[in-house]
Amino acid sequence: MRAHPMMMEPQWIDFPVRGDARGKLIPIEAERTVPFAIRRVYALADLSAGAPRGGHAHRALRQVIVALSGACTVRLADGTGETRVALNRPERGLVLDPMVWHEMADFTPGCVLLVLAAEHYDEADYIREWDEFLRLVRAGAAA
Ligand code: TYD
Repeated sequence: MRAHPMMMEPQWIDFPVRGDARGKLIPIEAERTVPFAIRRVYALADLSAGAPRGGHAHRALRQVIVALSGACTVRLADGTGETRVALNRPERGLVLDPMVWHEMADFTPGCVLLVLAAEHYDEADYIREWDEFLRLVRAGAAA
């Protein structure tokens, strides 16, 4: 019988908000509020509620994901535990560490996600098969 998966603790970063009657200004600074140098930024837009994104892990890449507009859910799994969180505030980033499987879904209309990445795009860094991910987690745990 499979044990019930442990809960994984999400890591959040609260960005400062400079708000006034005109709205919010949210500074995001590399190596300050974001704990790494940013080499790449990408956006996910025109998303469909029924078409999840992600569904992979990275071997070494560190990222922070922010819902600039709208909201979605993010499922995180590290191979021993998992959690599902709501990403729904532009002043709050979710850390996507290496070897954490992540899948974004349930996008609200107009949802725009911003992703800050520590490295340039590298397909070799992706783990796109869940079985391979679990094998690597177990190999890492045994090492
Ligand atoms: P992918 O990472 O699979 O998308 P998601 O995880 O959001 O569902 O990337 C989709 C496509 O875009 C794939 O062909 C690779 C390409 N891509 C880049 O060229 N540069 C990038 O920085 C990223 C993240 C993806």
